[in-house]
Amino acid sequence: MYTQKLRPRRMRISPAVRDMVRETTLSPKDFIYPLFIVPGENVKEEIPSMPGVYHLSVDQALKVAREAWELGIPALEIFGLPEYKDADGSSAWDMTSPVQRAMMAIKKALPEMVIVGDVCLCQYTSHGHCGHLEGHYVDNDKTLKLLQKVAVSQAEAGADMVAPSDMMDGRVAAIREALDDHDFINVSIMSYAVKYASGYYGPFRDAADSAPQFGNRKQYQMDPGNAREALKEVELDLAEGADIIMVKPALAYLDIVHQVRETINRPVATYNVSGEYAMVKAAAQNGWIDEKRIVMETLLSMKRAGSDMIITYHALDAARWLQEGNCF
Ligand code: PBG
Ligand code: ZN
Repeated sequence: MYTQKLRPRRMRISPAVRDMVRETTLSPKDFIYPLFIVPGENVKEEIPSMPGVYHLSVDQALKVAREAWELGIPALEIFGLPEYKDADGSSAWDMTSPVQRAMMAIKKALPEMVIVGDVCLCQYTSHGHCGHLEGHYVDNDKTLKLLQKVAVSQAEAGADMVAPSDMMDGRVAAIREALDDHDFINVSIMSYAVKYASGYYGPFRDAADSAPQFGNRKQYQMDPGNAREALKEVELDLAEGADIIMVKPALAYLDIVHQVRETINRPVATYNVSGEYAMVKAAAQNGWIDEKRIVMETLLSMKRAGSDMIITYHALDAARWLQEGNCF
């Protein structure tokens, strides 16, 4: 008779055993929570395509920042909607803009919270592109000068890290140089090294009012068919001085996350983007899926693929669910 000696099911027999042998786990320390800062006071308005995510004035953002810190979330990424827009996006380096004011306020109230600044121009330019335009072409090297100003202004406002998301060539080196010239040697760079031209950014562009007014971003963001090119982008950004490498979006690009993880010995971040969030929220609101299970399984997949940290709009919920336990 056939005797079954090898029984993997023994290691699944109870929740406690499963907890003991689980290879990948989640913690609130894995999360970076994005905030959208708007002008004004006492503003807390839900973003329609991102239920549970809000436009926040600085005073309200401070409350959310405290809540995140109390839940054990170590970092926030700050996005903003400025008071004015112009051709070169000059409100992006205006020290009185919502992003810079939020950074100063959060740094003061929660000095240990890691503040990450998104460095890009699309939220600040009248045309919605991520850089300086020459006709309909985004001029790479002229944009670098603008990005340097944004990064330095954010460092001055208290950012611990800057995260360039524009996809210009050479921007990590340019930003590193500008930070060092201003003595911000300990401000680190989390590079959106591998950022694909993706339909998954749709809800974000509504939320940040940053959709391009003509054309698309395919001349600077990456083509979804390319994996080898992702490794090239990573190599360049590391050579230019990036401290953390990000892959974005996350879910449709977990193969890329895994390849980057296998290739480099630096921290890897993934961005669980707005479209990924909106899909889960919509299905959950319809009662079609179990939100907690789906969110935790999804975030776990990003960790398992090799991310050390995940930028996610689910961060507050996920941190609460981790406190409750019974997630897996
Ligand atoms: C700005 C930026 C974008 C996102 C982060 N920074 C949008 C874009 O490139 O159009 C997307 C984030 C998300 O979808 O959650 N360049
Ligand atoms: Zn941009």
